[in-house]
Amino acid sequence: MKVLGIETSCDETACAVVEEGVQILSNVVASQVEIHARYGGVVPEVASRQHLLAIVPILKQALSEAGTGLKDLSAIAVTVGPGLAGSLLVGVTLAKALALAADLPLVGVNHLEGHIYANWLEGFAIEFPVLCLIVSGGHTDLVLMKDHGEYLQLGRTRDDAAGEAFDKVARILNLGYPGGPAIEKAARGITDPYSLPRAWLPGTWDFSFSGVKTATLHLARELGVSPDSPPELIGRIAAGFQEAAVDVLVTKTLQAAEEHGVRQILLGGGVVSNLRFRELITSRSPLPILLPRPELCTDNAAMIASCGYFKFQAGRTSGWDLDVDPSARLG
Ligand code: KG4
Ligand code: ZN
Repeated sequence: MKVLGIETSCDETACAVVEEGVQILSNVVASQVEIHARYGGVVPEVASRQHLLAIVPILKQALSEAGTGLKDLSAIAVTVGPGLAGSLLVGVTLAKALALAADLPLVGVNHLEGHIYANWLEGFAIEFPVLCLIVSGGHTDLVLMKDHGEYLQLGRTRDDAAGEAFDKVARILNLGYPGGPAIEKAARGITDPYSLPRAWLPGTWDFSFSGVKTATLHLARELGVSPDSPPELIGRIAAGFQEAAVDVLVTKTLQAAEEHGVRQILLGGGVVSNLRFRELITSRSPLPILLPRPELCTDNAAMIASCGYFKFQAGRTSGWDLDVDPSARLG
């Protein structure tokens, strides 16, 4: 059974074909990052228009690389949220048009749920209940997944998402957009990072990253950071911020896993492609860590097709009134 996935929630236009929810036949992603980098972040209207320009060629490429026509598909899965409304509308409109034309079932997918299902594409043997940490540009969520489609939200960020904090700190340090990979690169090989504060929010599974972001801003001002600052200085600040952010994510996730008696920890979202995060969580965890390869952690449509397959199997298809849900949550 082949499912087409369509993902346009932010600044990646993506289509993919996945077989039986686990085997990637094609996974095409067109990034708009160079266009938004000029503005230092994603500009919503520019993003929607770029999706409109790119979506049909990307769809054609995904079908062609999979050696598939619309008539070979069993369902069309599409991201409905969370994300930018105008961007989501491009994907959902295309999905409806294709489902109508080819007489196929339509499955609306939550983007965060998609990040979780990236793990099915790696062929991991997942045992429920599993603790999930989803960390992206818009979300930092700790979720207990009890079964397919059954989620209990344990905690979330109270202010900035972790990826958003990476992006803002990169701007403070003149490292460009997107910030996560730039901070990781600047911090590589630094042995004496600055020490920056961690917000633990004891007694909750929530996170907060605005404090460390502001502390980084004050430190950068004190040190007189400018575009001409030596890379060593920028690296020490970037590494200090990265250590603080990653330490909180890893520590709280491991504590939640212990308290909820799970046997595995599942990760997803752009930030978990960070190599320092990957190194720290795998070395500190007594439990197996399920971690997709970096290109399945960042936004893609294969994860949407995989999630769509499992929803379709459970009979959870959508009607013609399917709408975008820019602030959708899990659980
Ligand atoms: O999941 P994703 O691709 O898109 C959203 O759903 O938001 O995540 C993008 C976020 C951005 O904030 C980006 O800076 C961050 O993930 N990111 C990283 C890394 N790669 C991407 N953060 C830290 N280290 C990285 N290597
Ligand atoms: Zn995402």
